[in-house]
Amino acid sequence: MSNVHVFDHPLIQHKLSVLRDKNTGVKVFRELVGEIAMLMCYEATRDLPLEEVDIETPVATAKCRQIAGKKLAVVPILRAGLGMVDGMVALMPNVKVGHIGLYRDPETLEPVKYYFKMPPDISERDVIIVDPMLATGGSAAAAAMFLKEVGVKHIKLMSIIGAPEGVERMQSEHPDVDIFVAALDEHLNEHGYIVPGLGDAGDRIFGTK
Ligand code: PRP
Ligand code: URA
Repeated sequence: MSNVHVFDHPLIQHKLSVLRDKNTGVKVFRELVGEIAMLMCYEATRDLPLEEVDIETPVATAKCRQIAGKKLAVVPILRAGLGMVDGMVALMPNVKVGHIGLYRDPETLEPVKYYFKMPPDISERDVIIVDPMLATGGSAAAAAMFLKEVGVKHIKLMSIIGAPEGVERMQSEHPDVDIFVAALDEHLNEHGYIVPGLGDAGDRIFGTK
């Protein structure tokens, strides 16, 4: 079963409180999504393997450690996942970025795919899927499935808020995918919105409502 990591760092929790507030406007909302993504990225990459390297300082040779092993890619689920990309890229400037376009059918709540563009060597990369909201889990589960279909073997999912329903769906369909969230909320309402959540993440990032 996938591990679920809830990041209770005070900086993340403080920023999340402001993010949830219905009076927070587009500019601040957008900035906070990026900042939270950066803080979460710092925690979610804790297990990256390191290798020893010799570095010549102006004084002597230093035994140092650099990130080793497989290359990474960040894959946002459009639209709202885009808001998390800059924060990830700020910490990993050379990371490759793939895009998966999905929207939820308002009736069935099932994801509809409209875009899929990956770096050509995606099957050799470990992937972190980013999407602020893990609600029914339909979008995240579909994204993980599409990535596995093109050969990706190691996937992590980073969401700002998760609902129990979404976590359960991921654990049953993709038990190998570790899940990182800043908060696990109570439940979904009849429209598939996370309660208490923060509303529609895409609309709040892009000001479309
Ligand atoms: C939102 C959100 C997730 C999805 C989560 O996207 O960004 O992708 O819903 O819900 P789920 O877990 O039930 O699939 P939405 O479909 O609203 O599209 P948008 O980002 O383009 O607004
Ligand atoms: N998508 C959102 O943007 N918000 C929710 O609460 C659920 C799905």
